[in-house]
Amino acid sequence: MEERVVTQETPHETLSNLLQESRRFAPPADLAEAANVTSAAYEEAAADRLAFWEKQARRLHWNTEWDTVLDWSNPPFAKWFVGGKLNAAYNCVDRHVEAGIGDRVAYHWEGEPGDTRTITYADLQREVSKAANALLELGVQKGDRVAIYMPMIPETVFAMLACARIGAPHTVVFGGFSADALRGRIEDCDAHVVITADGGYRRGAPSALKPNVDEAIEGIDHVRNVLVVRRTGQDVAWTEGRDVWWHDVVDRQSEEHEAEPHDAEHPLYVMYTSGTTAKPKGILHTTGGYLTQVSWTHNAVFDLKPETDVYWTAADIGWVTGHSYIVYGPLSNGATSVMYEGTPDTPHKGRWWETVAKYKVSILYCAPTAIRTFMKWGDDIPAQHDLSSLRLLGSVGEPINPEAYVWYRHNIGGDRTPVVDTWWQTETGAIMISPLPGVTHGKPGAAMRPLPGIEADIVDDQGTPVPNGGGGFLVVKEPWPSMLRTIWGDDERYIKTYWSRFDGLYFAGDGAKKDDDGDFWLLGRVDDVMLVSGHNISTTEVESALVSNSKVAEAAVVGSTDPVTGQAIVAFVILRGETVDNGEALVAELRDHVAKHLGPIAKPRQIMIVPELPKTRSGKIMRRLLRDVAENRSLGDVTTLTDSTVMDLIKTKMPSAS
Ligand code: WT7
Repeated sequence: MEERVVTQETPHETLSNLLQESRRFAPPADLAEAANVTSAAYEEAAADRLAFWEKQARRLHWNTEWDTVLDWSNPPFAKWFVGGKLNAAYNCVDRHVEAGIGDRVAYHWEGEPGDTRTITYADLQREVSKAANALLELGVQKGDRVAIYMPMIPETVFAMLACARIGAPHTVVFGGFSADALRGRIEDCDAHVVITADGGYRRGAPSALKPNVDEAIEGIDHVRNVLVVRRTGQDVAWTEGRDVWWHDVVDRQSEEHEAEPHDAEHPLYVMYTSGTTAKPKGILHTTGGYLTQVSWTHNAVFDLKPETDVYWTAADIGWVTGHSYIVYGPLSNGATSVMYEGTPDTPHKGRWWETVAKYKVSILYCAPTAIRTFMKWGDDIPAQHDLSSLRLLGSVGEPINPEAYVWYRHNIGGDRTPVVDTWWQTETGAIMISPLPGVTHGKPGAAMRPLPGIEADIVDDQGTPVPNGGGGFLVVKEPWPSMLRTIWGDDERYIKTYWSRFDGLYFAGDGAKKDDDGDFWLLGRVDDVMLVSGHNISTTEVESALVSNSKVAEAAVVGSTDPVTGQAIVAFVILRGETVDNGEALVAELRDHVAKHLGPIAKPRQIMIVPELPKTRSGKIMRRLLRDVAENRSLGDVTTLTDSTVMDLIKTKMPSAS
C-alpha cells in the first residue's frame, strides 16, 4: 500500500528542502474502508460550512436547540449556537450511562508508583455528582471561577466536570508551575475555591503541591476554600476554616445531582497561555461550540471507535491538549482512555511502551519532543514491548521533523499506522489542520490541510494568500466553533493580539508554507524566523535537516547577530543514544549535512553538542534562552524552564568568545 520514493540522503541545492520531502504513506485499506469520516466531509463543509457544524453539534445532547448557528455581527466576538442550552458534564457522562454503557471503562488510570484505578462511566457519574454537590455546599455558584492545581489523578477530571456541571468555569493550572505562576492565575480570574492535592508522584518520588497553594493564596481574600485530595499522604500545613479534605467533604455527598442546562455561550473554562514576555493570557472557552468541535475532531482525526479502541493522550491535563483530548473530546464520545500520572522514564525508559502493551492502546497522541526523546534513548527500548495493538498515532505541539515522523511510524507504529500531525493552539480549542487518517496520504512533516469546516490559509505580509510553493503567515479566515471568545478580562488585548495584524483574519503567530500540492507545512512561531544574508530561513527547516542525520536526536537552532550576514545560524544538538562524539569531525560532518540538504546559505556558523535543551514545561524548546547564550548575553527569565541547571550545562559548551 505504501510508497517510499526517495531516501533521506538525496541532496537538494535549494532552501525549503522540507517541501521536497517526497515520502508518502497511503491510508491502510482497512482503516480507509471503515473510516468515520470520508472525503465527502470536505465537500459537505465547502457547500455549507454552518450546516456542517450544525450537523456536528447534533452529535451532542441539547436541552434546547439553538436558533442561530453563528452570530458574527460584532467581530471578532463570535457566538455559536445562540439560544441553545446544554450541559457539558451531562454530555460527557450521564448520557452514556443513560444509553446503557455505564459499565464501559472511561479511564484506565495508571499511577507512577504502579497503583491503578479503573473508572467506568457509571463511576464517573457518581463521582462527578458528589463533587458537584460538594462544591455547592462550599458555596460555589454558577459563574464563580474555581482553580484546579492537581497531579494527573482521576479526581482532576471529577473536579473539572463538577465545575462544568454547575456552570463554574474552571482554570486548571499545570501542577509543575510555581506558587508565583499559580498566584498570578488565581488573581487574574478571581477564583473563589482552589482544588489541589497534597502532592503527586514525579520521577519516583512524591512531589508536593499544597505548599505552593498556601504560598500562592497568602493574603488573597477572595479564595474562601482549598479542597485537598489525599494522594501521596505527605504532611501538609492546614488552615482551619479554609482548608477541607476531599474525602471529608466529597465522600459523604449524595451520588445524585441533576445537571442543569447552560447557555451555549456560558464560560466553560479559562486556560492561561504564556505570551512571549508579558503576563499570561487567560484564554476563554465557552460550552456549545467548544464541545462540538473537540468532540467531532476527536472522532474524525483519530477515527475513534468507542466500542473497541483504547485511546491515550500522553500529555498533562494542565495543558489544552489534556482538556480537549483527555477530558472533553474522549468523554463526549464515550471513549475508553488511558491516563498516566508520571514521567516516561520512571521506573525505566520503557514505561510508555509497557503501558501501551498492558492496556492494548490502539491510538496514541503525544508531542514531537517526546518522540525525539525516545529517538535519543534508542530504538531497542520500544522494540522490547508488544506494540501491535496500535493502529493510529498522533502528534501535536510543535512541527514534527520528517525524520521524527518516520521514526515514530516505524519504531512505534510498526509501519502500519498512519501518523496524524495535528496543528492547533490553546486559542483554537481543538484541532484545525490535520490529515484525516482514512482519506489523506501522510507526508512526513506536513500537517496537510485545514479540516472540513475550517477556513485557514497562508498569506503574505499584505494578507494576500500565497500561491502553492509560497510561504508566509498562517491565518484563519472564518470563525470556528471552538475558537477563543476573548482574553479573560481584556477584550482589547484579544483584538490586538489576534485580529490586528491582518484585517478580518485571525493571526495565529505561526509561519507556514504551501507545497506544490497546496498542503500546509508549519514552520514555528514567526519570531523564530532568521534572516541570513537577506534570506528568510526558519529554525524548523534547519532543525529538521539536522535531525535527518542519523546521529542526531534533537536540534534547536537560533539566529545570532553577525557582522557579515546580519544573522548567523547557531545550532544546539543532542546526539542519538549510540553516537560517539568525536568533536570537530562530527561538527564538520553535521555542518556539511545541512549545507547539502538546504544549501550553503543554511550552513550553521556554529554547532554545539549538548546533553539537554532548555524546554518549557509543555515541552517547547525555549529558543529565546539559546539566543541569549549564542549572543553572550545574560539569560532572560528562566522561571518557566523545566530544569534550570540545563542552561549551566549548555553555557559550559559555548566557546567564551565567538
Ligand atoms: C503553538 C500552540 C495545540 C496544543 C498544544 C500546544 C505550535 C502546535 C503544532 C503542529 C507545528 C504546532 C504552534 C502553535 N504547534 N501544534 N502540529 N505543527 N506547530 O498549544 O501551547 O497553545 O501552542 O504550538 O506554534 O501556535 P499551545
